[in-house]
Amino acid sequence: MGRMNYPALAPLQIGPLRVEWPVFLAPMAGYTDAAFRSLCFGLGCGGAVTEMVNAYGYVIGHDRTEHYLDTWEGEHPLGAQIYGSDPGMMAEAARQISMLGQFDFIDINAGCPMPKIRNRGDGAGLIRTPEKLHEIVRQCVAAVEGRVPVTLKTRVGWDADTLNALELTAGAEEAGAAAIFLHGRVAVVKHAGPSDWGLIGEVKRARRIPVIGNGGVKRPVDAFHMVAETGVDGVMVGRATLGNPWWFRELRELAAGTTVHKPRPDEIRAVIREHLAREENLMARRGPKELKLGVELTACLVLRAHLVRYLRGFRGIRLLAVHLEERQTKAELLSRIDEVIATGLKTDPLPGPDPAATPAE
Ligand SMILES: Cc1cc2nc3c(=O)[nH]c(=O)nc-3n(C[C@H](O)[C@H](O)[C@H](O)COP(=O)(O)O)c2cc1C
Repeated sequence: MGRMNYPALAPLQIGPLRVEWPVFLAPMAGYTDAAFRSLCFGLGCGGAVTEMVNAYGYVIGHDRTEHYLDTWEGEHPLGAQIYGSDPGMMAEAARQISMLGQFDFIDINAGCPMPKIRNRGDGAGLIRTPEKLHEIVRQCVAAVEGRVPVTLKTRVGWDADTLNALELTAGAEEAGAAAIFLHGRVAVVKHAGPSDWGLIGEVKRARRIPVIGNGGVKRPVDAFHMVAETGVDGVMVGRATLGNPWWFRELRELAAGTTVHKPRPDEIRAVIREHLAREENLMARRGPKELKLGVELTACLVLRAHLVRYLRGFRGIRLLAVHLEERQTKAELLSRIDEVIATGLKTDPLPGPDPAATPAE
């Protein structure tokens, strides 16, 4: 198969920040900590955003909140994401975080659909109070005093009857936001169903600042489809990368027109081990008060959320569920993982062209 004719993924400018490869890992609370993000960066991810951090918790100095902002060396460009609905509190969190010198931009969460968040007006709740959202953007932009750009991550609307992304993003642009991450699903569906790329395209055409599309990007080739269909300046991908950080490598290979490599069992094994080692390193930074189970067991618990996904391609994936106990030492967990890997992949991982890859229209 010859080289496909994909649209270019061109460098992107977020205020003064240049993003060479406009392909972002989406923030996913409980998954995209520094360990996973840094593995994605190592495999070709172009940018990332931290898990969401409560502005109030951060400002009053909650230990646990702070750890959501732990980073791994070399994670750039990286945004710190804050949520809340009090403009003054959001601005203070933005100011303090911008002074850490660790983050390339500050992202405002106006998309989290979890009832306990949105019902108090935070996250996706802000979609229903555009004026407040715009005030938050304005105050955050003022508070960071140009140290870093401020971006907004939001959705196309609250529900099918309230598709107000044009209004939301117009006001955010006016208030000084430097880019918009736009998820093509409404708040009430959370993460289910199709993502409305038509609306993403409309917003893209209406804005001067860059719009990065999100939602419904599954295979790497979908990133090209999204750019071709909507004209977005970049793409952000979430769930498709869980258990598959090689997703980013595959996209780079497609773009370069080189052979696409699916991960082989030895690579999967090595990445899982490295993931666990990085979780241990991150946990070791926390105080004993926060880690009732200790560094090793806590790191194993965090890794377990990823394991079923890492290992889903293996014939013996069931072995994992059977033997995965609540409290398991690292040595036990690693030997379970090796047992599953030894059963072999269901499909041949030998390098070759991706049969699912089709040229963009
Ligand atoms: C488990 C989970 C946690 C998430 N946590 C966050 C978050 O902390 N901040 C945020 O802006 N979006 C969060 N999201 C939304 C994702 O960033 C993304 O917008 C969504 O998953 C759609 O992209 P996808 O279809 O590529 O997964 C989360 C999504 C999932 C599935």
